[in-house]
Formats: sequence, structure tokens, C-alpha cells
Amino acid sequence: DLKGLDLRAEIERLRKERNAVILAHYYQKPELQDLADFVGDSLELSRKAAETDADVIAFCGVKFMAEVAKILSPEKTVILPDMEAGCSLEDSCPPEKFKAFREAHPDHIALTYINCSTEVKALSDVIVTSSSAETILQQIPADQKIIFGPDRHLGGYLSRKFNREMLLWPGVCIVHEAFSETELLKLKAQHPGAPIAAHPECPPTIVDHADYVGSTSGILNYAKAMEGDTLIVATEPHIIHQMERALPGKTFIGAPGADGNCNCNICPYMALNTMEKLYIALRDLEPKIEIEETLRLDAKKSLDAMLEMAS
Ligand code: 13P
Ligand code: SF4
Repeated sequence: DLKGLDLRAEIERLRKERNAVILAHYYQKPELQDLADFVGDSLELSRKAAETDADVIAFCGVKFMAEVAKILSPEKTVILPDMEAGCSLEDSCPPEKFKAFREAHPDHIALTYINCSTEVKALSDVIVTSSSAETILQQIPADQKIIFGPDRHLGGYLSRKFNREMLLWPGVCIVHEAFSETELLKLKAQHPGAPIAAHPECPPTIVDHADYVGSTSGILNYAKAMEGDTLIVATEPHIIHQMERALPGKTFIGAPGADGNCNCNICPYMALNTMEKLYIALRDLEPKIEIEETLRLDAKKSLDAMLEMAS
């Protein structure tokens, strides 16, 4: 029974006792973002996990992110407050099907979004995040054929932007797929002049109206640099917490779903992590990520390729 416990203080105590670092994604609840040692996008969180000298990484994010931390820092204990924190993109791409798809296209390399399982990473050549995809794609020779998975919207966006044909895996993020173009245009009409910043996981019906398209950190930096005082944010709305912290005088509005508000765009997987579960994970060092060594080394190759090409 956790009633009566000062969770913040207990987490603080355990963080020191365990020599743990708490990493959090921008889609986490504000209270988790606020106590994290570092909050970032997928690429930044991977880098932090690779370079930390802590003994324990407490990952407030989804499972594939915690697995990346374990792949890059195998000697560390990596805990995830809720093992059920998955991702619809990962679910859309079962490793056996992805393997068969690759085998059907042997002259293609697999450029794969980090939102996938460790098995799919092991079957890929280069991993990308939304913040590194453009830089990495530009380093791949123009005549090299490419399979891009599992997010067809990010793949389609890159394809259009760089006029580069790619074979797209048909996965989507259920969160970014839920924004409504009709409601977005209504909102824009109510706030004339307010720019729209969108994540590339959004469908073209949303991205085509955006003044800026980029990763969560990219969107946050865009907010910090904008001149106006209102921004429409087409990504998971918990990132607005960081915007309000950094820019208290400005207004940030989450892009709406079909019901006219932004609550349907909360990532149900990210939302599984809570203060209570983080406390228990630090106390028990469970649930923890374990990855079989051969699989880890195979997945590490495509992640190392990303880290090298992204810098
Ligand atoms: P970022 O790398 O932009 O933080 O994206 C992660 C993610 O899951 C978006 O849905
Ligand atoms: Fe996956 Fe979408 Fe949630 Fe990101 S927001 S973790 S892509 S389901």
C-alpha cells in the first residue's frame, strides 16, 4: 500500500541509493518529466542512455525506447515502469513479416524508424529517428533502393520532401493518425496567424498545413524561436508542458481530433507510466529489460549506424 508515501521524496532517495538516472520522453506526464534528469526526443534519449555512468537507467517512455537504452548500455540495469507500454508502430511490424518483406526485395536496404522491436532493428541496416531521418537519408546514394518502415507517414513525408521513391511498410501511429484536418482548419481560422508545428508521424492531411515539421525536440525548439505568441501543436499534447515551462507568456494549443479537442491524441502507451510505478520499479529493480546477446549485437549494428550518420 503506497498511501501516505511521499512518492517524490522516495523516488529521490532511491535515485541516489541505486545510482540511477531517470530519462523521460516529452510525452510523459508532467510530474514524470519534472523529476527526470533528462527529457528529450528519441535520438537524444538514445545518446544519453549510451553515455550515462549511472548503474540504473529508469526509462519513462515506451518499451522500444528502454530496449534501445539496454542495447547501447548492456551492463546497466534498465527498468521501465510498465512493461505494457508498447507502441502501435511496433505492433504493426511483426519481425517474421518484416523478414519476409526484406527477402522479397533483396536489392533494397532497410532504413527503419526507431519505433520498432529489437528484432526488427536486428533485421535492418540503418535506424532513424524523426530528428535524424533527413540527414541520414541524404547520405544514402541516390541509386540505392530503400525499404522504409514501419511508419508510412514519416516514410511518405521523406519521400515527398527528397523526391525519393521508397517501399513503405504500411504502419501508422494511432495517436498522430487521430488528428482531424477539418477541426485543425477550424482551429486555425480561430487563431489567424498562429503557426502549426507537426510531427512527421502525422498524415499528409495534417503535415501539409504545417509551418514546421520535425521531432518533438525540433517542435520545442521551433516554439522557443517563434516570434508570435500562439502555436498550434500537432503532436502528443504532453509536450506542451515543456513549452509552457520555457515560455510562460505564450499560448500553446494542441491540435484537435474529430471530437474537437486534443485528449484523444494522448498516447495510451506512454500514459501507462505513473509516479507509483516508477517508485516500485526503482524499489524492486523490476520490470527490467533483458535482451538475448546475439539479438542485441545484431540490433546494435543498425543503431550504431544511426548514431554515426546522425552526427
Ligand atoms: P521523437 O523522436 O520525435 O521524440 O518521437 C517519438 C515518438 O514516439 C513520436 O510518436
Ligand atoms: Fe508509438 Fe505513437 Fe505512442 Fe509515439 S505516440 S509511442 S509512435 S503510439
